[in-house]
Amino acid sequence: MKKETKFTHVARPPAGLGTAVNPDITRASTLLFEKAEDLYRSDIRGYGRHGSAVHDALKEAFNMLEGGAGTTLFPSGLAACTYPILSQVKAGDHILLTDSSYGPTRFFCDGHLNKMNITTEMYDPRIGADIAKLIRPNTSVILLESPGSLTFEVQDLPAITAVAKEHGITTIIDNTWSAGLTLTPLALGVDISCHAATKYFGGHSDVMSGAAVSRTKKLADQVALTAKHLGNASSPDDAYQILRGFRTVVPRFRQQEATSLALAQWLADHPKVQQVLHPAHPSHPDHSIWKRDFTGGGCIFSVVLNPCSEKEVLSFVNALNLFGIGYSYGGFESLCIHCDPQLKRSHADKLSGPLIRFACGLEAMDDLKDDIEQAFNEIS
Ligand SMILES: Cc1ncc(COP(=O)(O)O)c(C=O)c1O
Repeated sequence: MKKETKFTHVARPPAGLGTAVNPDITRASTLLFEKAEDLYRSDIRGYGRHGSAVHDALKEAFNMLEGGAGTTLFPSGLAACTYPILSQVKAGDHILLTDSSYGPTRFFCDGHLNKMNITTEMYDPRIGADIAKLIRPNTSVILLESPGSLTFEVQDLPAITAVAKEHGITTIIDNTWSAGLTLTPLALGVDISCHAATKYFGGHSDVMSGAAVSRTKKLADQVALTAKHLGNASSPDDAYQILRGFRTVVPRFRQQEATSLALAQWLADHPKVQQVLHPAHPSHPDHSIWKRDFTGGGCIFSVVLNPCSEKEVLSFVNALNLFGIGYSYGGFESLCIHCDPQLKRSHADKLSGPLIRFACGLEAMDDLKDDIEQAFNEIS
């Protein structure tokens, strides 16, 4: 069965007389029990923090999406990345983090984990099987993100997970870019796949949410227990919104994916652009790995402009009318940011021009193209 069909039917309440098509939202902190004997039972939900029917339905949808054994939900995508890491480390450990990771994940590792005597070593996202050379006796986790944030390097997941398995190391991927629709990392040996559901599943830039899906029940229990100990809870309204987004994510994603590739193809030949960084474009250095492991693209990509002044870059972004200036992606509206102020790379060669990231929404491709073309007038 195709994903769009599955997403229409997954985690629906049984049809009855006049039942709604999605589970109801139950807002609760206290849950009441009929009998005192039931108060300490471990087999039933005892308190609002432990979720509700709509949370369960959303977890079922994420398990189906990724082929996972268990999902924990979080109030943001960043939390969906940090809690799974915490579930797998202890003081004294060494972890490996791809140099292309989402910035706040890097800050969490460098800052918070460092205070707990956990050392983070950045590695080249294109390292492949050579990651074996970085493994130490105390390496507990390898963090992946493919393609990487801002610069879109594609990682050789089967090569890296094979090394991790040999050494009993947990692998965790930020799989936000593909929405799990064009990459299924658990099938390639990754242990935990994390999503900022804020993006494609929210789809309307008005809700924040995250999910971590584990390959085995043991890992899923470890993530869930860490989240429980730290008081993690996400609102039933947000869980409902994300489940609602699941119903329509496939056609929205397909349109955004097609727009992003069409824009990348056009920009690749544009005289003001030096390089497009889109894994689905044949000019991308990792295009062959992308073709092997992915079944499609995403809605977001970057371009390296020909060298120009910072003033021209700012004028270009300010001149865009249809692309909003703002972070994130996967919403119905297109966005653009200039990346250089936040670009931190220990391993990559310095880019030879300013980096601009485009997130494609649901507008018509030709209108977006015209908007970019008129903004290029700001650059000489
Ligand atoms: C790749 C990636 N991971 C995680 C996050 C964090 O998600 P959230 O904004 O929901 O915390 C983002 C947000 O931009 C992201 O781009």
